Amino acid sequence: MRSFSLFSFVLPTLLSISSLAVTLTDVSQLETFAFDYIIIGAGNAGLVVANRLTENSKVSVLVLEAGVTDQGVIAAEAPFLGPTLTPNTLWDWNYTVVAQPGMKGRTFPYPRGKLLGGSSSANYLFHQFGTNEDWDRLSLVSGDPGWSWPNMKKYIQKHERFVPPIDGHNAPGQFIPSLHGFKGEVFVSLPGNNQTIDPRVLAATEQLPEFPYNKDTSGGDHSLLGVGFLQSSAGGGVRSSSSTSYLAQANTRPNLTVLINATVLKLVQTGTGSLGAKSFRGVQFQRSSTITVTARKEVILSAGSVGTPQILQLSGIGNSADLKALNITPIIHNANVGENLSDHTLLPNIFTVQGDQSFDGILRSDQETQAALNQWVQNKTGLLANNVVNNFGFARIPSNATIFKTTHDPAPGPNSPHWEIIISNFWFNPGIDRPPTGSFMTLVVVLITPTSRGTIKLRSSNPFDKPLIDPNYLTTEFDIFTMREGVKAVKRFAAAPAFSDYVVGPFGDSFSAATTDAATDDYVRGLTTTIFHPVGTASMSRSFSKHGVVNPDLTVKGVDGLRVVDASVFPFVPSCHPQGAVYLLAERASDIIKFENPTS
Ligand SMILES: Cc1cc2nc3c(=O)[nH]c(=O)nc-3n(C[C@H](O)[C@H](O)[C@H](O)COP(=O)(O)OP(=O)(O)OC[C@H]3O[C@@H](n4cnc5c(N)ncnc54)[C@H](O)[C@@H]3O)c2cc1C
Ligand SMILES: *[C@@H]1O[C@H](CO)[C@@H](O)[C@H](O)[C@H]1NC(C)=O
Ligand SMILES: *[C@@H]1O[C@H](CO)[C@@H](O)[C@H](O)[C@H]1NC(C)=O
Ligand SMILES: *[C@@H]1O[C@H](CO)[C@@H](O)[C@H](O)[C@H]1NC(C)=O
Ligand SMILES: *[C@@H]1O[C@H](CO)[C@@H](O)[C@H](O)[C@H]1NC(C)=O
Ligand SMILES: *[C@@H]1O[C@H](CO)[C@@H](O)[C@H](O)[C@H]1NC(C)=O
Ligand SMILES: *[C@@H]1O[C@H](CO)[C@@H](O)[C@H](O)[C@H]1NC(C)=O
Ligand SMILES: *[C@@H]1O[C@H](CO)[C@@H](O)[C@H](O)[C@H]1NC(C)=O
Repeated sequence: MRSFSLFSFVLPTLLSISSLAVTLTDVSQLETFAFDYIIIGAGNAGLVVANRLTENSKVSVLVLEAGVTDQGVIAAEAPFLGPTLTPNTLWDWNYTVVAQPGMKGRTFPYPRGKLLGGSSSANYLFHQFGTNEDWDRLSLVSGDPGWSWPNMKKYIQKHERFVPPIDGHNAPGQFIPSLHGFKGEVFVSLPGNNQTIDPRVLAATEQLPEFPYNKDTSGGDHSLLGVGFLQSSAGGGVRSSSSTSYLAQANTRPNLTVLINATVLKLVQTGTGSLGAKSFRGVQFQRSSTITVTARKEVILSAGSVGTPQILQLSGIGNSADLKALNITPIIHNANVGENLSDHTLLPNIFTVQGDQSFDGILRSDQETQAALNQWVQNKTGLLANNVVNNFGFARIPSNATIFKTTHDPAPGPNSPHWEIIISNFWFNPGIDRPPTGSFMTLVVVLITPTSRGTIKLRSSNPFDKPLIDPNYLTTEFDIFTMREGVKAVKRFAAAPAFSDYVVGPFGDSFSAATTDAATDDYVRGLTTTIFHPVGTASMSRSFSKHGVVNPDLTVKGVDGLRVVDASVFPFVPSCHPQGAVYLLAERASDIIKFENPTS
C-alpha cells in the first residue's frame, strides 16, 4: 500500500498550546501599500532578513506569506511529529515530481512547508552548517571571499543557541562547544532520549574503521566524516523554527508587518534604475482580491527553491522561449532561471530486528502514541520531545574507486562526504506503510554530492498551477554508483558485531535480492525518493558571468531593486541537511542589504 507518510498519527485538533509568533494582520489592517522592503515568503531565510532589517525601527518591512500560521500546530511543535506535517496536508504545497526516468518512471510527493517559518517549520529538524569546503567552493564560484568559511562561521554566533538536551544528560563527547553559538536565535540540542540502539551504534563505530565516531556533526572546520549524535533545531522538547525564533523576537516591532494567506502572483516592473536596468519593486499578491504593493528600496524573494523560480518566471524573468510558449511576456531573458535544480536523494534500507525494543510497537498502538502525546503536552518530555533519530553520519567514496576514472570528484573538497547514513530505531520509509507486525531498524542512504541536474518550469501562466518539478534524479553514472556503494556500506554497518544479536536481516524482496550491482541498481531505482533539499534554481555566480541568476550580493542579474535570499541561490547543494546553511546565508544577506542601503 502506498501512502507516502512516515507514520500515521491521530493528530489532536483540540489542543492549543503555548503561543508562538503572534498571528499577524489582516489585509484590511494594511495602513500603507509602500514599504522600504517587501519580503516574499516567511520561510527559513525570509524571516531572518525580516528580523535583521527591522532591528532599525526606521526601516519598514512587509512580509508576504502564502501559508497559514504555525501557532497551535502541534505537529510543528513536537519534534517527533515533524514527519507528519507533510506531504499533502494543510501545511504543505502538495507538489509532486514529474515521472523520473532514473527511477523507473516513478512520481512521488515533493513537500515544501506552507506556513510561517516555511520549511523550517515543516522539516525534520536536523541541524548542520555544511563543511568549510562547501563555503570555500561557494566563495570560489562566486568570486566573493565573503562567502568563504573563515568569514561565514561568525554568523553561527548570531544564529545558534545551543541548549542542553531534554533529559539534562551531561553530553561531553557528544558535541564540541567551541564549534557552537550559545546566544543566538535558534535553539539547537542533542538527543534527550537514549534509544535502545544507541549503545550498539556507538560500539559499531569502535568496531568498524570505515565508520569512526564523530564527536560533532555540525560541520564547518570539523570534519563531517564518521557517525555521531544528531543535533536538532529544538530546545526544551519543542521545535525551533525561523518563526518561533527570528520572527517571535521581532514581532512587537511596529515597522514589521507580516501578512499570512497572501499568495504572491508576480513581481511588477516599476520603471528603470539608475544604471538602466529594469526595476521590479512592485509585488502583486492575492488575498481576497488582487493587491499591489511597492518597495522603496528592494523586493527580497525568499519563496524557496520552488517558489522563487516560479515567481521569477511568472514575472517575465526567465527563458524567453519558455515564457512565450505560455503567453507570458518576457521582460528579462535569463535561461538559467529554474535550471540546475540539485537535490539529495533518500533510500530507506530496512532491516528486521529481534525483540520489541524498536519504536514500531509504540507507533502501532493508538494507546501508547496517545500516552506519548499526553506526556509531551503535559511537560514536553518523552518520545515526542525528541527527534525521530539519534545518530547519523557521513562517508566518502574511496579515492581509488573506479568511478573517479570517468567522473571528476563532485565533492567540494577531499574532506567532504559523498553520502550519508541515517540510523533509525524503527520502520522509516515515507513511501511504504509499516507492516502490521515486526520490529525494524532503518539505515537510510542519502546521496550528498549529486551530479544530476533538473528543472523547475511553469505548467501555465496561472500562479495557482503547481510548477513542473523535475529533479532528474539518478541520471548520471556517479549518482547511481554512489547510491549502490552506500547500500553495500550500510549492509557492512549492519553486519558489525554490535548488531549480531539484534539484526535479523534485510527486509523485503528487492533489498534481499540486492546482492549484485545490477540488482542493487534495480532496488535503488525502484525505492529512492527525496530528502527534500532542493537548491540551485536561482544560482549564484560571478558578478559579470552570464551564467547563473544572482550576483554574489544576491541581486538578480540585469534587474534593479530585486534580490533572492533563500536556498535557490546555492549552485551546489551543501554537504549536509541545509537549514543551518540557509540560516547563515540569510544572516550574511541581511548584512549585505544593510551595507548596500545605508540609512542616515
Ligand atoms: C519535509 C522536509 C523535511 C526537511 N528536513 C530537513 C532537516 O531535517 N534538516 C534540514 O537542514 N533541512 C531539512 N529540509 C530542508 C530545509 O528545511 C530547506 O532547505 C530550507 O528550510 C529552505 O529554506 P528557504 O528559505 O529556501 O525556503 P522555505 O523555508 O521553504 O521558505 C519559502 C517560503 O515562501 C513561501 N512561498 C512560496 N511561494 C510563495 C508565494 N507565491 N507567495 C507567498 N509565499 C510563498 C512558502 O510558503 C514558504 O513559507 C527539509 C525540508 C522539507 C520540506
Ligand atoms: C517606520 O518606517 C518608516 C519608513 O522607513 C519611517 O518613516 C518611520 O519613522 C518608522 N516608524 C518608526 C516607529 O520607527
Ligand atoms: C494540500 O492538500 C491538503 C489535503 O488534501 C489540502 O487541505 C490543502 O489545501 C492542499 N494545499 C494545497 C496548496 O494544495
Ligand atoms: C543508554 O542506555 C544504555 C542501556 O540501554 C546504556 O548502556 C548507555 O550507557 C546509555 N547511554 C547514555 C548516553 O546514557
Ligand atoms: C485565505 O484567502 C482566501 C482568498 O484568497 C480565502 O478564501 C480564505 O478564506 C482565506 N483564509 C484565511 C484563513 O484567511
Ligand atoms: C512528565 O510527565 C510524565 C507523565 O506524563 C512523567 O512520567 C515524567 O516524570 C514527567 N517528567 C518531568 C521532567 O516532569
Ligand atoms: C582501493 O584500495 C583499498 C585499500 O588499499 C583496496 O582494498 C581496494 O581493493 C581498492 N579498490 C579498488 C577499486 O582498487
Ligand atoms: C548549471 O549547470 C551546468 C551543467 O551542470 C553547469 O555547467 C553550470 O555552470 C551551472 N550553472 C550554474 C550557475 O551553476
